Amino acid sequence: MAVELLEPVQIGNYSLQSKVVMAPMTRGFANDLGIIHPDTINYYKIRAFYGVGMIITEGISISKEAQGTVGIPGLYTLRQVEAWKDVTKEVHKAGGLIIAQLWHVGRLSHSYFTGGTKPIAPSAVQANGQTHNIRMPYETPRPMTITDIERTIADFAAAAENAMNAGFDGVEIHAAHGYLIDQFQSYITNLRKDEYGQKKFLFLEQIIKAVGNSIGIDKVIVRFSEHKDDLPLYYWENPEDTVQEILNVFYKTGISLIHPSSPSFKKPLTNHTLTLHALIRKYWNKASIGVGEMTPNIAEEAISSSEIQLAAFARPLLANPDMVELLKRSTPLKKYHPETHLSTLLP
Ligand SMILES: Cc1cc2nc3c(=O)[nH]c(=O)nc-3n(C[C@H](O)[C@H](O)[C@H](O)COP(=O)(O)O)c2cc1C
Repeated sequence: MAVELLEPVQIGNYSLQSKVVMAPMTRGFANDLGIIHPDTINYYKIRAFYGVGMIITEGISISKEAQGTVGIPGLYTLRQVEAWKDVTKEVHKAGGLIIAQLWHVGRLSHSYFTGGTKPIAPSAVQANGQTHNIRMPYETPRPMTITDIERTIADFAAAAENAMNAGFDGVEIHAAHGYLIDQFQSYITNLRKDEYGQKKFLFLEQIIKAVGNSIGIDKVIVRFSEHKDDLPLYYWENPEDTVQEILNVFYKTGISLIHPSSPSFKKPLTNHTLTLHALIRKYWNKASIGVGEMTPNIAEEAISSSEIQLAAFARPLLANPDMVELLKRSTPLKKYHPETHLSTLLP
């Protein structure tokens, strides 16, 4: 069991020690200046040490305006960049690769977290619910002007450059789960009448181009999803069209590794008989990362059939920093308990 999954692989310029990816997980331990907690170094290092092939970090704010709750690290000040250098150095020493997930939450925030200014979004559509961690009602956002759009694209590119200066191996653009980029992609949150309303993936395309120009497109991964954290009933009305539309953006911009996010890898899309990853494989001939209640057996099967090339695990890797090692020894994995595993960075 789990033979392929645990084997090294070459994906583009990346040499991975296994096909196990650590999925991005917000932890909330950074200080008020967006500087990571010192334990973050060992938190990521031990997972690389025990054989995770690629670590995708927690969502990292690209600016103060991009932040959605407390404890989120940034990549927009020198001190933030300096602190990340210790993480990337140790992960590399342990044989791993580390990718910075670049995050802007858009409307899923409150002026309490964004530095006093109203959260921004494609349109003034307020989200239901409250911010994570410190509970604040989501504020009605200020619709983005063209200047806001240009500034945000530049912030993504600058954060990507900072990530490279901090020693990261690449970046993942967080275009999933109902956050800013995804807000442009949804008919509920994007009511614009300009070209950003007509072409729902234009903002994403411009960000990919800007980030690619700043660090090289071979170092850019994109995460996207049907599901939105704040809109549980949302679904793609025509998944075939939507998937082809988004994949065209990736073909056009030269992306070669994508990270489609599903809450449950084996579950078909709401309006389709296929799962998200199976539908993508129909139209995508490059590498893709599987995720969502993944088990080693599911991952093994999907990698063997070439549906995906890498398998990402979130909660299992919180409960089992040595997961790859345990699988090699056929030792059962520990169960994930949020109260235990979310309360500290180190066991
Ligand atoms: C504590 C926690 C924090 C998360 N934070 C993020 C995040 O910052 N960015 C993101 O794209 N996904 C985030 N996710 C979603 C995971 O990356 C992953 O897609 C999801 O948990 C499904 O994988 P799993 O079934 O292996 O846990 C988070 C998940 C958890 C459990």
